[in-house]
Amino acid sequence: MAMQMSVSISSSSSAFLNQSSLTFRSERVGVPPKASGACKCVATEPAEKTAFTTKVSRNANMGKLQAGYLFPEIARKRNAHMLKYPDAKVISLGIGDTTEPIPEVITSAMANRSYALSTLEGYSGYGAEQGEKALRTAIAATFYADLGIEEDDVFVSDGAKCDISRLQVLFGSDVSMACQDPSYPAYVDSSVIMGQTGQFSSDVGKYQNIEYMRCSPENGFFPDLSSVARTDVIFFCSPNNPTGASASRDQLKQLVQFAKDNGSILVYDSAYAKYITDDSPKSIFEIPGAHEVAIETTSFSKYAGFTGVRLGWTVIPKQLLFSDGFPVAKDFNRIVCTCFNGASNISQAGGLACLSPEGLKAMGDVIGFYKENTNIIVDTFNSLGFKVYGGKNAPYVWVHFPGRSSWDVFAEILEKTHVVTTPGSGFGPGGEGFVRVSAFGHRENIIEACRRFKELYN
Ligand SMILES: Cc1ncc(COP(=O)(O)O)c(C=O)c1O
Repeated sequence: MAMQMSVSISSSSSAFLNQSSLTFRSERVGVPPKASGACKCVATEPAEKTAFTTKVSRNANMGKLQAGYLFPEIARKRNAHMLKYPDAKVISLGIGDTTEPIPEVITSAMANRSYALSTLEGYSGYGAEQGEKALRTAIAATFYADLGIEEDDVFVSDGAKCDISRLQVLFGSDVSMACQDPSYPAYVDSSVIMGQTGQFSSDVGKYQNIEYMRCSPENGFFPDLSSVARTDVIFFCSPNNPTGASASRDQLKQLVQFAKDNGSILVYDSAYAKYITDDSPKSIFEIPGAHEVAIETTSFSKYAGFTGVRLGWTVIPKQLLFSDGFPVAKDFNRIVCTCFNGASNISQAGGLACLSPEGLKAMGDVIGFYKENTNIIVDTFNSLGFKVYGGKNAPYVWVHFPGRSSWDVFAEILEKTHVVTTPGSGFGPGGEGFVRVSAFGHRENIIEACRRFKELYN
């Protein structure tokens, strides 16, 4: 896999080098030493050839996956760059990991819960697989007050990405799926792993059997539903990672109606809903009728810096039924009980603290900080004459480099500025020509990265 990736990057990079007036010193742009080392290993090491093999065939669906999962690939390229330039101050605005400390009102609750585990009275082992009642109640009250969602509709988890995979296990391999193009890669990759798709068609950059719903500046980043084929499941993320676009109430009404007309299930990822500043809905359950067609999955990761702590939740209303009338939530409960033993009790204490009045204020402050970062990045690219999207309701800025390969732009920015971004095409063919710049960073790093962008593109 490392070989596939490095080959495709190096060839597209050299195409770029031919066109570009910029002077690239390195003929190895985008070809990490580590990746080429891996290629060599696979291709030539005799030990590999004589290695013992089991009689177990590889899961054919795994074999369909292209290269590695996007973000570890980016991390590998960043590490290779750091090896190449050991003295460079590399700034990561790529993977989208949070950087600011978790407010103390939240960490102290986790510390207390942790210390309590050392006492007879405070010790607890396995908890409810669906999450602690107090947290489920607080989530329902905080995010879904008056939206007809009850505490037992909420399944607490170790994060939205894990829930996306558990939802795929719930649906099984016989469903068809649609997702936005571009979109967060976990939907497509988990669908491939589950066997819902055909092979990857490299000419179009798509897997067979997935309905890619193109979201571009031309359609305001909302798909033209009249040209979208029916699928069983529709993954939809708003505010969207990577484009930063959020769907309006009117658009979500159309989406819910589309799901209803087709008898589809909508999996709505609202991991960035708290970044919304305009009147875009923060939950799909604000839309009448959504309870009969939608699941919502979301996370504390980008709200409270819980990317390492791990805590999220999924809402499945009782009204959501399979074609035979069986409640989807009941099957999901079975999956959760079989494949998961509940979120860490320490994380859940943190989650509960997040939802206290002080916790909510502290989370709001951190989100406000990242939103200021976003404004700095947006202003920078605007001032350089780029077309910039997103940023308003999401911590991601989607910068257009028309006619250019996004992997080449990623390599150019890394090579020339030591700033890691994310190539748009890593999120699907619709991301080609764009680069995602994340606003998760210390302020001085954001300012320095923007200074370097200005130096490169002025
Ligand atoms: C749209 C979206 N959904 C889900 C996740 C994963 O969240 P978690 O950290 O809760 O697994 C991310 C993380 O970047 C994301 O961007």
